[in-house]
Amino acid sequence: KIYRVGIFITILVTGGAGYIGSHTAVELVGTGYGVVIADDLSNADMSAVEGVRAISGKDIPFVKADCCDEKEMEEIFREYGIDAVIHFAASKSVEESVREPLKYYRNNILSFATVLGLMRTYGVEHMVFSSSATVYGQPDALPVTESAPRKPANSPYGNTKQICEDILRDSISAYDGMKGVALRYFNPIGAHPSALIGELPRGVPANLVPFITQTAAGIRERLHIFGGDYSTPDGTALRDYIDIMDLAKAHVAALDRMLNGKNKGRYEVFNIGTGVPLSVLRLVRTFERVNGVAVPYKITGRRAGDVEAVWADTSLANIELGWKASRSIEDSLASAWDWEKHLRYG
Ligand code: NAD
Ligand code: WQD
Repeated sequence: KIYRVGIFITILVTGGAGYIGSHTAVELVGTGYGVVIADDLSNADMSAVEGVRAISGKDIPFVKADCCDEKEMEEIFREYGIDAVIHFAASKSVEESVREPLKYYRNNILSFATVLGLMRTYGVEHMVFSSSATVYGQPDALPVTESAPRKPANSPYGNTKQICEDILRDSISAYDGMKGVALRYFNPIGAHPSALIGELPRGVPANLVPFITQTAAGIRERLHIFGGDYSTPDGTALRDYIDIMDLAKAHVAALDRMLNGKNKGRYEVFNIGTGVPLSVLRLVRTFERVNGVAVPYKITGRRAGDVEAVWADTSLANIELGWKASRSIEDSLASAWDWEKHLRYG
């Protein structure tokens, strides 16, 4: 089957009330795709769905459903003519996964296997899966390419990403017609320029940028920079921070590729990052400069499980997906601050 944008194509976005899913839903609708959002709201609330509807001006269908529940999910496949799935639904806290491994193995793996099984039953052929740079651990060579070996995962969360990549690869090789893309995200940051949707961390944020915005807003006293003694130019760790809107667009590019039959091989993997490393300290200073706010910080010990440096070789995505990150770190950090202000002050 060859699909073209313009003919109505419906994408099931699991976990679409979450951070990356909501921004991707906006991009999908903006490109002309139909979207159905399914989310169990275990780490999100309806405000993100309302935000997506407000930005896109469309009454996007939302179904409260647990992807591990075959019956609930089957309703969706039965009711909507689904053409492709983007599977964001997962639990994502590295730290929680160490304390509660079974929650992670169950939710992340069972949800994925359930959705893939329903795709088979209903003849849905296209899957985009949310993988992570965490599969590389500390790479031996940087920037890291997709062909670099995956390292033994340092958390149950990371392990679920490796296992789900393998589930996708093996299912595609076993079942005729099935195609899939695993996108390995680097560090997503920022928010939609409207500040109507963004990241909604629960409790104390584990990720750097939400911790910074909460510190700038006075909710946290100071940022702890985990490690100032790495072998990097300023001693703090290096990451590849990818703007959320650029990341959202990568999903559209991956879908377009499969739906237009442009994929080379039925299972493909792409790094989604900027290709540019940035240190924690430089990110903090850039945030302060761009937004004109202070972020008190203190350099403390390293965080268990952290790698020193990781950034993407994005050539494959640039060439094959025709996708490239375009928003600057300044844009991303300004949008993150706008979103925090929207949350605090409306
Ligand atoms: P998020 O928690 O904001 O979004 C995930 C959504 O899935 C939430 O809305 C949650 O309620 C929902 N969900 C969880 N389990 C579900 C289930 N069984 N059934 C239905 N819905 C369920 O997280 P995010 O940052 O948007 O991440 C999206 C995906 O990208 C996840 O798979 C995550 O592992 C992956 N990822 C995230 C990052 C990151 O730094 N944010 C990096 C790499 C990969
Ligand atoms: C970035 C840098 C921290 C908080 C995690 C997951 C990974 C992926 C993306 C899903 C690191 C430092 C952070 C703070 C700090 N998620 N930091 N003080 O660890 O690169 O990746 O999210 O797949 O799997 O592990 O992202 O935002 O937590 O940290 O100094 O309060 O900021 O040490 O160097 P990370 P992060």
